[in-house]
Amino acid sequence: MVFVTRRERFSAAHKLFREEWNDEQNFDVFGKCSYPNWHGHNYILYVTIKGELNPETGFVVNIKKLSEIIKEHVISKLDHRNLNIDVDFMKDTIASTENLAIAIWNVLEPIINLLGVHLHKIKIEETENNFVEYYGS
Ligand code: NI
Repeated sequence: MVFVTRRERFSAAHKLFREEWNDEQNFDVFGKCSYPNWHGHNYILYVTIKGELNPETGFVVNIKKLSEIIKEHVISKLDHRNLNIDVDFMKDTIASTENLAIAIWNVLEPIINLLGVHLHKIKIEETENNFVEYYGS
């Protein structure tokens, strides 16, 4: 089994808040990410797949094809968008990095299976110091 990771980047706006809480409660829980008028992050997404080496190609997966899939199904929907408003697969969720990682997993997993390999990990860096990893459960 060999693991291969593709890195992609996107920039997006969001805020973290619950409508039913007041500004003070939201700030207590979500800090500056709760400010009402949105803010942005430069996110870095790492998509790791696992599979067997193809002895003919020396590859596990055609990484160009993997990149195209990530761009079509994920990056094009996130880049320069508002995660709270614009993104169909983030509807009705708090726009946290955790929820984003799970949502991206759910979008990509069935498509990546079609390549004959399996999704292993979604990692998202929100800032230099904060990142989230999701392994599908
Ligand atoms: Ni934020």
